[in-house]
Order: sequence, then structure tokens, then C-alpha cells
Amino acid sequence: MSIEIKLLPNTTASVMEPVQLVTTVVLILVFLNGSQAASPHIVFIVADDLGWNDIGFRNPQVLTPHLDKLAKAGVILNSSYVQPVCSPSRNCFMTGYFPYHTGLQDGVIRPTSPGFVPIKFTFLPQKLKELGYSTHAVGKWHVGFCNIKYTPTYRGFDTFVGYYTGAEEYYNHTRGYDKFSGYDLRFNTSVYTEAKGKYSTHVFAERAVDIIKSHDKNTPLYLYLPFQAVHAPLEVPPEYEKLNDHIHNLTRRTYCGMISALDEAVANITNALEETGLIDNLLLVFTTDNGGPFHGAANNLPLRGTKATLWEGGTKGTGFIYSKTLLKKTGYLNTGMMHAVDWYPTLVELAGGKNTDPNMDGVSQYDMLIIGGPSKRNEFVYNIYDKTNSSAIRYGDLKLMRGSPGAHSGWVPLPTSGESSDTQDSQFQFPPYMLYNITSDPTEHFDLSAKYPELVTMMKQRLENWEKTRVPAYQPPNDPKSNPDLYGGNWSPGWC
Ligand SMILES: *[C@@H]1O[C@H](CO)[C@@H](O)[C@H](O)[C@H]1NC(C)=O
Ligand SMILES: *[C@@H]1O[C@H](CO)[C@@H](O)[C@H](O)[C@H]1NC(C)=O
Ligand SMILES: *[C@@H]1O[C@H](CO)[C@@H](O)[C@H](O)[C@H]1NC(C)=O
Ligand SMILES: *[C@@H]1O[C@H](CO)[C@@H](O)[C@H](O)[C@H]1NC(C)=O
Ligand SMILES: *[C@@H]1O[C@H](CO)[C@@H](O)[C@H](O)[C@H]1NC(C)=O
Ligand SMILES: *[C@@H]1O[C@H](CO)[C@@H](O)[C@H](O)[C@H]1NC(C)=O
Ligand SMILES: *[C@@H]1O[C@H](CO)[C@@H](O)[C@H](O)[C@H]1NC(C)=O
Repeated sequence: MSIEIKLLPNTTASVMEPVQLVTTVVLILVFLNGSQAASPHIVFIVADDLGWNDIGFRNPQVLTPHLDKLAKAGVILNSSYVQPVCSPSRNCFMTGYFPYHTGLQDGVIRPTSPGFVPIKFTFLPQKLKELGYSTHAVGKWHVGFCNIKYTPTYRGFDTFVGYYTGAEEYYNHTRGYDKFSGYDLRFNTSVYTEAKGKYSTHVFAERAVDIIKSHDKNTPLYLYLPFQAVHAPLEVPPEYEKLNDHIHNLTRRTYCGMISALDEAVANITNALEETGLIDNLLLVFTTDNGGPFHGAANNLPLRGTKATLWEGGTKGTGFIYSKTLLKKTGYLNTGMMHAVDWYPTLVELAGGKNTDPNMDGVSQYDMLIIGGPSKRNEFVYNIYDKTNSSAIRYGDLKLMRGSPGAHSGWVPLPTSGESSDTQDSQFQFPPYMLYNITSDPTEHFDLSAKYPELVTMMKQRLENWEKTRVPAYQPPNDPKSNPDLYGGNWSPGWC
């Protein structure tokens, strides 16, 4: 169009007809608008403690029709790794750093322990705000709250509805820990009592729908949505349990009911995204934070081990991405290797930015996820524990484990109505180092360490190299100043 304008003679006689002029202006506006492709909206959904075998597209026992539909129309992530437990994985989503580089490698932040992710790490929503995003967090925080500066609206989120600790009751939002007990639900920094008595999956889905419906389409949205579901305690409104009448074991039926409620929540959210048109320029990410805990009736078959172990059952996460418009290739299983730390640089690239931190562990998987190309990653650290030195690393096909992989090392069967299916850990004797070929043996049945000592030596060297940058774990002892009674019965900042 600009060419046409330049060719216009500079005389009044040949000025464009009014209609032609209007058309030209409109076309120029459309062209300009199209040339500055607006940054996509991002909805990042985290399920808590959802096992590998706890989703309909892998296990027809589990009723997740909406999630299945999105996954099948999107890309199922078949090698997307997370940390063995909650806070460390959330640390990865927020910082792009492995927890052994931030001090969170030894476990979760307990309600009474003044743990946090150091302020020197810029959280993803802070970075996205620089790129023009509106940022909202809805659900579980669990990366520190003993000082207000560690809470969501001080770490990059415009708003927050959710809870600070790692678990609580689903209806009354109370968390008991040690001798203490308190209410844990906030709107921004204020205690949010209006939701008392309301099931959290409903609270969070409604909040997400509100955000979506009141959002100005022209501003890119980052909605971080870490649901409470399906972490213990196992509580679900009866209608969702009824949907799962085909499951005889009550614990499993309740757990699967919680998954059904989560599925409905995601349906409500995607409906709102459709209604508002946000879906036309949006990436939806769905991931678990760690493997399923067997004692809560979650299931990771055919993988070995459970939540809190270095086995694949603790660390290989259920996940998929969906977009109506942004993905070059859809409807397939992506086997490319990625890790939770990769979301940060990937989403920054998607948002039109660039990760400028050379030390970051995460690498952008934009090419793999959006274009359908190969993974940029050939190795990663499952974890390097500080106090025990237990660790596991991956290099290509190979996985090396040092020390204990964690309690519960079996292949826990699906719960049935019968006796408990806990595995007898005493039956396993582990050598100091184990070597698995995850490509040929994804279920970790064959330790190759005795067969390939030279590969063990090579992998040990790689582990020692990774280990050089380990920082000490920060797991401060329980502090009585955390007592909710000191803050009107609420788990609150103000004690570190
Ligand atoms: C939360 O914070 C946002 C941004 O400052 C503000 O617009 C909103 O009104 C706050 N909501 C509540 C309930 O405090
Ligand atoms: C919260 O709900 C749980 C489970 O129903 C119950 O055991 C607990 O006593 C309740 N706590 C409060 C403070 O209401
Ligand atoms: C989904 O929306 C429907 C209709 O508003 C509502 O009845 C239902 O409770 C919502 N489900 C969840 C999980 O929020
Ligand atoms: C862990 O490794 C360090 C450094 O190699 C060593 O000093 C320490 O004793 C080890 N700790 C355990 C519990 O094995
Ligand atoms: C249901 O399954 C759980 C988890 O495997 C098990 O602990 C429990 O004993 C089973 N319950 C019944 C009634 O069979
Ligand atoms: C691991 O398994 C893959 C797939 O079967 C195979 O190509 C590779 O050679 C194996 N690596 C080793 C060291 O055995
Ligand atoms: C997907 O992962 C599972 C579990 O590790 C594995 O058994 C399966 O072979 C993988 N699928 C592909 C196509 O690689």
C-alpha cells in the first residue's frame, strides 16, 4: 500500500476518490496491526501430584474428556521432566534454574520453615511484565511466604488468589502442621474469607474465568494456574465421585473424582477463552508438578517409583500443550527431552523476548514445541540432594543414579478393592551407582552398572561436573514465629 501512495502525483486533480482513500487507510491499519503480531496469551496450568497413569489419554479408567481433547488436538509431551516434589518443581517454573542451584533441592518448604527462593532470581512473571504482560496467579504458591517480599504480588504477579503453603483442606482452606493450624487463602495480600467452605477447584476455576472475562484482549495475558487438585487430602464433591462409579476402591474413586473436577475446571476455562476470543492467540500448557504419590491412590504405571523418588515415576511428568493457532504441528506424541526449567526461556521467547541470563539451566524449547523440531536438550539433572548426596543425571539414553533413589521403589499397581498395594522396599538392595538405558528400558528394570563399568565412570564424571556448581540446601528449622495464632489464625508473612 505504501508504494501506491508514493506513486500518487502531487496534484489535486488526481487525488484518490474518497472511497478509495478510506480503503487504503483501512488496509494500511490492518497491515500495521498484522505486522506487529501481538504476543500470545499464555495459560500455564499445573496439576498437583497427578501421576503418569492418571489421565484419560493414557488410562481409560480416568475420566478427563476435556483434557484429552486438548491434548489430542495439541502435542502430548512424552519426555517432559519435573522434580520429585512440589516446591522444587515450582522453583523451576519460576526461575529456570535447577533447585540444586537455588537451595531448594532437599525438599518442600514446610509451613513452619522460613524457606524461600532467593530474591536474586527474577521470576518468570517479572520478566513477562517487562514484555508487556498482565500477570495473574491462581492457586498454590509454595515457594516461600515468611516475608511478604517472597509472596506472589511482590514477585511479578499483578494479582493472586490462592494459598501459600503446600497443602490444605479443600473446603475450609485450613492447614494443620505440627502443633499449628491456620487458614490459608488470600486475595492479593489480604485474607480471602469469602471462599471459606467452597471447594478449591471451583474457587480457582471461577477466579480464572473472571480474569479471562475481564481481560483486555489487546494486552498479553499470563495466567499461572497451579490447582490444588489432586494433592492430598482426598476430598471431592459427591457428584464427581459418582461419575467414577466404575472404580471400586474408594480411595482411588475419590482421587479420580478430584481429577474429573479438575477436568471440568479446565473445560470452563477453555470455554471462557473461546467466548472472549483469547484462544485465537494463546498457548495453553498443562503439566503436573511431580509423579503421583502411591499412598494417595495416584498411579504411575508402567513407570517405576512414586512422588519423592528419583525414579521415572517420580520425575517424568504428565503434560501437553495446546494452541488453536500457534503450533506448526499438532496431534502427536512429542518424545523430545525437556525439563521444567525449560518453560521459562521457552515462554519468554514465545512472548517476543530473549533470555539474557547465560547461567540459566533452562533452554528455550520453542523449536521443539511450537515448530515441531528436535529438542535443544540432551542431558539434565534429575536432582542432586545436598544432605544425602543422592542424585541422578541423564545424558542421552543413559541415566545414572547415585545413592538411594528414595522410598518406594516398586512398580505400584493400580489400586483395587483389596489390601494395600504399597511395595516392600526392603526387597530392593541398591548398589552405590545404578545405570539405566531409559530409551530401551523406560521402566527401569535393568541396572546396567555391572555390565558397563566404563559408562558408569563416564557418567560419574558428568555428575561430578554438574555438582561443582551445587549450592547448599536452604532448609531452615521450624520456627515457632510461624504460628498462625500470632496472625489472627492465618498462615502469614512477617516472621523472617
Ligand atoms: C488485587 O490487586 C489488583 C492490582 O493491584 C487490584 O486491581 C485488585 O483490586 C486487587 N484485588 C483485591 C481484592 O485486593
Ligand atoms: C477442615 O476440614 C477438615 C476436613 O473436613 C476437618 O477435619 C477440620 O476439622 C476442618 N477445620 C476447620 C478449622 O474447620
Ligand atoms: C463449571 O461451570 C459450571 C457452570 O457455570 C459450574 O456449574 C461448575 O461448577 C463449574 N465447574 C468447576 C469445576 O468450576
Ligand atoms: C556428600 O559429598 C560430599 C562431597 O563429596 C562429602 O563431603 C559428604 O560427606 C557426602 N555426604 C554424604 C552424606 O555422603
Ligand atoms: C484402595 O487402594 C488403596 C491404595 O492402593 C489401598 O491402600 C486401600 O487398602 C484400598 N482400599 C480398599 C478398601 O481396598
Ligand atoms: C540404549 O538403547 C538404545 C535403544 O535401544 C540403543 O540405541 C543404545 O545403543 C543403548 N545404549 C547403550 C549404551 O546400551
Ligand atoms: C512414552 O513414554 C513411555 C513411558 O516412559 C514409554 O514407555 C513410551 O515408549 C514412550 N513413547 C514413545 C513413543 O517414545
